[in-house]
Amino acid sequence: MSKFYFTTPLYYPSARLHAGHAYTTLVCDVIARYKRMCGYEVCFLTGTDEHGEKLERAARDAGLTPPEFVARQRVEIQKLWKLLDVRYDRFVYTDRPDHTVSVQRLLRLARENDPDKDAPDKQTIYKRRYEGRYCVSDEAYISEGSEPANCPVCGRPGELISEDNYFFRLSKFQDRLLELYDKQPEFVRPGFRLNEVKSFVKSGLRDISISRKRIKWGVPWPDDPEQVFYVWYDALTGYLTGIDYAADGDDPGKRERREGFWKWWPADFHMVGKDIIRFHAVYWPAFLMAAGLPLPKSVVAHGWLLVEGDKMSKSKGNAVYPEPLAALFESETKGIVAGSDVLRYYVLREIPFGQDGTISYEALIQRYNSDLANDLGNLANRTVAMLNRYFDGVVPAASAWGKASDLLFPVLANKTKAEYQRGFDSYTFSSALEAVWHFFATANGFLNRTEPWAMAQDASRRDELASVLATAAEAVRFSTVLLYPVVPHSAERLWKQLGCEEYLGRIEDQRIDQLEWGELRPGSQVGKPEPVFPRLDKSAALARVGEQEIVASGESPEKEAPAQVESQPEKPPADAPPIPSTESRIPEPESRIPRPESRITIDDFAKVEMRVGEVVSAEPIPGAKRLLKLMVDIGSEVRQVAAGIAEHYKPEDLVGMKVVLVANLEPRKLRGVESNGMIVAASVGDGGRPVLVTFKEDVPKGARLK
Ligand code: MSP
Repeated sequence: MSKFYFTTPLYYPSARLHAGHAYTTLVCDVIARYKRMCGYEVCFLTGTDEHGEKLERAARDAGLTPPEFVARQRVEIQKLWKLLDVRYDRFVYTDRPDHTVSVQRLLRLARENDPDKDAPDKQTIYKRRYEGRYCVSDEAYISEGSEPANCPVCGRPGELISEDNYFFRLSKFQDRLLELYDKQPEFVRPGFRLNEVKSFVKSGLRDISISRKRIKWGVPWPDDPEQVFYVWYDALTGYLTGIDYAADGDDPGKRERREGFWKWWPADFHMVGKDIIRFHAVYWPAFLMAAGLPLPKSVVAHGWLLVEGDKMSKSKGNAVYPEPLAALFESETKGIVAGSDVLRYYVLREIPFGQDGTISYEALIQRYNSDLANDLGNLANRTVAMLNRYFDGVVPAASAWGKASDLLFPVLANKTKAEYQRGFDSYTFSSALEAVWHFFATANGFLNRTEPWAMAQDASRRDELASVLATAAEAVRFSTVLLYPVVPHSAERLWKQLGCEEYLGRIEDQRIDQLEWGELRPGSQVGKPEPVFPRLDKSAALARVGEQEIVASGESPEKEAPAQVESQPEKPPADAPPIPSTESRIPEPESRIPRPESRITIDDFAKVEMRVGEVVSAEPIPGAKRLLKLMVDIGSEVRQVAAGIAEHYKPEDLVGMKVVLVANLEPRKLRGVESNGMIVAASVGDGGRPVLVTFKEDVPKGARLK
């Protein structure tokens, strides 16, 4: 069986992952499912990049030791992948003992394999003084020399570092890298990214420092206890550790025991965001070349998820998180739809792979309604409904009628599959899905044109009716297999509704490469026509997203939520069977469940990041009589916060006041104003009058409350 090994980046567990991180992982999960269904033995690796200065600082801020902090965060990340039903095969984390062995082994091989090991001015690994600007947030060297410089990725000012470090002579690999890109143009995908990488390398490579002296949280340098490895040298090696590169300890004599590793390496691809291509397409192959290890076959780069035109990031306060996005679809459809299916579908269909794209609740609901509820949901629903109504739910034989229109279907189905596979194999997922949706449009058009509901009125057209419905049902079956990698939960529901599991087995065990038209079995029983994608009432759903935010902020809604608009069901022709409703299914408002008295641990408390801030400006928010818009300086940044204190504080009295801000709350919009944090206040008396927390002594901005 052919093997297929690929990876996501190893995420920094310094902060909660947002939808941008989920994007990378969901795309990989879809590819894993697709490859398994094409008969590959797949190894899909993800994990966490747990060392370095950024993590060391985050742990300190959380009041934990780095190992405690990363262990806690790692669990949160694994929970997120479980929630989104990401089925990875391996999870590697860099704070595990065999990873130290991997990293040190890669260095040893680089030294041993070095043809210039005895020539100090040519050695691949050498020591010298480093002085330059460093970005802790991106763990990237920005420039050499002491001149101030900003990070090209995040724009933050670089910190000055001056220390003796070990260097990797990257310049020595320039020609070999250029040769690699020429011989293997698929080494970087999409192609336009390869050109960027090439011109970066052609412009001349500077040697890079691969060790750090002033930090302690890292893999120790083998023969210099004062140094740890630079976090990128360490993290990239995780792609080897994760497939047991060092499971046998560092005994070169036991190479044969590493066969698990050689089964998978070299990787088929590393999936990365465009901001970290350089590390993967320049540094990583050079590190591997130096060690004499085979190179990955490809580095595949996607674009960024943007929010209102800007890269989503926690520090900018504009992050969108995948859990509430997914939860929205689950609550609005009473658990029928898995939110992770909608997220997967959205990111693959909406964003041309490789380019930047935007995400919002509204856009997601829009896509869901038009593509999933309308095109696919209606096709499946009315087909199953008519099979129930006219054939007691039994699939009729399709051969009796055989008009040209339904004879075209097998041809179209094969063409759709070929386009779908071409799209998947070339990372153009959006066009793969477009091909499937074109197929749905043809099938829906076929039903509208042939009008099976009219045929049902005429006993002499029974064969025609059988043929039309069997064709439509087969079209749904065929495409359900293609859709499984993208919408696994819904595809499984459809598969079961069509009764296919009974005689074809589980959907995830179907083979896309062997998929053929015509396997729907005449005489088999289909299920009841239950909508797999109930239609959402967009404005009601969006209003509920807004309401939850207002309740969470403690502000009572000032205006009624918009009346729930009945969605317009498709109008059936006069005699048509009722097309199963795809209206929104709005759950009853959840009753407030009183929480039991419970104590929390110090770890729970440490999750809340409270900082001292100074109010820089305060102003009313038009149309929201209880809210004020505050700009609060917390030292490292100025945060915009909407606070429900307008009835008790005058804006001018607030400016200059020191307040306490909960800094790690998920941002939310209140009356259209983005709020990045919450000001802490005592709630006094029956009316809950807010009294702001402040300090008697002068306290510096940004100080953390513990
Ligand atoms: N730890 C390094 C990777 C080491 S791999 C050996 C790292 N981690 S990260 O957590 O900061 O980012 C991981 C991935 O998330 C990157 O591929 C990055 O491009 C991606 N994204 C972060 N923000 C993103 C968006 N807003 N949109 C899409 N992807 C984004 O870098």
